[in-house]
Amino acid sequence: MSKKLRSQTWFGKYDILGFAYRSWLKNQGHPDHVFDGRPVIGICNTWSDLTPCNGHFRILAEMVKRGVYEAGGYPLEFPVMSLGESLMRPTTMLFRNLASMDVEETLRANPIDGVVLLTGCDKTTPSTIMGACSVDLPTLVVNGGPMLNGKYGGKDIGSGTDLWKFTDDLRAGRMTMEQYMEAESCMSRSDGHCMTMGTASTMACMVEALGLTLPGAAAIPAADSRRRRLAHLSGNRIVQMVKDDLRISQILTRDAFENAIKINAAVGGSSNFVVHLLAIAGRVGVDLCLEDFDRLGSHMPLLVNLMPSGYYLMEDFFYAGGLPAVIQELKAHLHMDALTANGKTVGENTAGAVCHNRDVIATYDSPWKKEAGLAVLRGNLCEDGAILKPSAATPELMRHRGRAVVFEDIDDYHARVDDPDLEVDKSCVLVLKQVGPKGYPGMPEVGNFHIPAKLLKEGVSDMIRISDGRMSGTAFGTVVLHVAPESAIGGTLALVQNGDMIELDVPNRRLQLDLSEEELARRRAAWRPRPPYTERGYVSMFLEHVQQANLGADFDFLVGKSGADVPHGNH
Ligand code: FES
Repeated sequence: MSKKLRSQTWFGKYDILGFAYRSWLKNQGHPDHVFDGRPVIGICNTWSDLTPCNGHFRILAEMVKRGVYEAGGYPLEFPVMSLGESLMRPTTMLFRNLASMDVEETLRANPIDGVVLLTGCDKTTPSTIMGACSVDLPTLVVNGGPMLNGKYGGKDIGSGTDLWKFTDDLRAGRMTMEQYMEAESCMSRSDGHCMTMGTASTMACMVEALGLTLPGAAAIPAADSRRRRLAHLSGNRIVQMVKDDLRISQILTRDAFENAIKINAAVGGSSNFVVHLLAIAGRVGVDLCLEDFDRLGSHMPLLVNLMPSGYYLMEDFFYAGGLPAVIQELKAHLHMDALTANGKTVGENTAGAVCHNRDVIATYDSPWKKEAGLAVLRGNLCEDGAILKPSAATPELMRHRGRAVVFEDIDDYHARVDDPDLEVDKSCVLVLKQVGPKGYPGMPEVGNFHIPAKLLKEGVSDMIRISDGRMSGTAFGTVVLHVAPESAIGGTLALVQNGDMIELDVPNRRLQLDLSEEELARRRAAWRPRPPYTERGYVSMFLEHVQQANLGADFDFLVGKSGADVPHGNH
């Protein structure tokens, strides 16, 4: 270690400032020698009682501390805004950028040389990484791990995925309220995040694929003692990363992003992957666009048979070999020489990986499904793009022309969707407006909105649904998401009316509203935006600065990085 650590610009002073910096920390019992120039490691903890998926993070933080002390570092744990998917209204996505600002400013303002990010529930991963990218210190991620498989009625049940199914069963009269309540207690039965290949598991795979964790981190269940061991070893490793000055920008190269896109396709990752990876790329300065996801990912086969695209759950994925086994299957298609956080390449980290269950992780040549990745759609209904996840969709609907049934916003939807007089049949295309970044606001996960009850009772299980919102990573269906520009700013989606014909052609990547240019221009001239949701506080800043989904929905002024330097001291 030749370079003077940034923490020494605090602790290496022997004047009034150095006295103050050290003295107040000593009230926690820290001895003199922790200020002697050893790496200071921040442990960025997204623990909160309000984020049950991250409820075990105090223990994980202690394990990281053990590892940091053992390797000769000085750990300092700090809390940041935690985003709990299950409770927050109107949607955690409204606060992802705020949490990223918390992480960025806390890292920059404090004597931290390297950081371990403790991440779990969906948005806690991208938000902390986005913030860390903008400071660009040595950074390692310890994800909290998935819950154990849910168990109900003698079967495995998955977070979210089975919630949608049970709710449809209840609405269709196939399940009683007593059974529904019993299932509620059977779904979440250990520490950890959603154990389907939902957004949290997708994010865990994403960070491992990007090289930001130690190998094999993504799939270890939260309840498995190897999760704590991983945290301990990560504490060891981050100290060396600081000594080597191995910063996050050296790991997050274009090659790393390309690997992540291909691996996400092979694991059947959430559509939310797109918006978060775009935002992370924007922070670290890697040129990535929506088409990259289709170009790189949509020719990959789906190898991992996990809900919502398959049958198994993350616990099974771990026992089958986890992400290293997937990476080995894909090795001919990945940048195996990409550097990862442990100082080794992707190829070196996964060289001995073995698959123990081909039902869970299929081979490249005989995949679980041929159709993987995300299709990026273009057309007059989505000039700046929209996405669809083919592996979660109904094959017969991938090419379809149907009559639009339009809901003007989420309240209109709730008021009318189950109306027996709603003029809808299974060939219709359901359209939901005002659920984009600015419209809701916050781009909630309502894109997989339920189909009308009267069709459910007829046995219809899927219909084309189109919106400018997102979809839960645990959800499924022929769902067109992230339509940009969104309806709230006058995108063509805002102009769709009941009875218009819409054409979806996934093989040709097309989404078209069948109206003449003249009629579209007439409607556009008559369109007026709604008054702002609020004119005060954080949300007013969000409304002013959030970008569209095809740009990652980051704030315009947060794109890029400003490094770790602070020009002035605090006195
Ligand atoms: Fe936290 Fe699903 S609710 S990961």
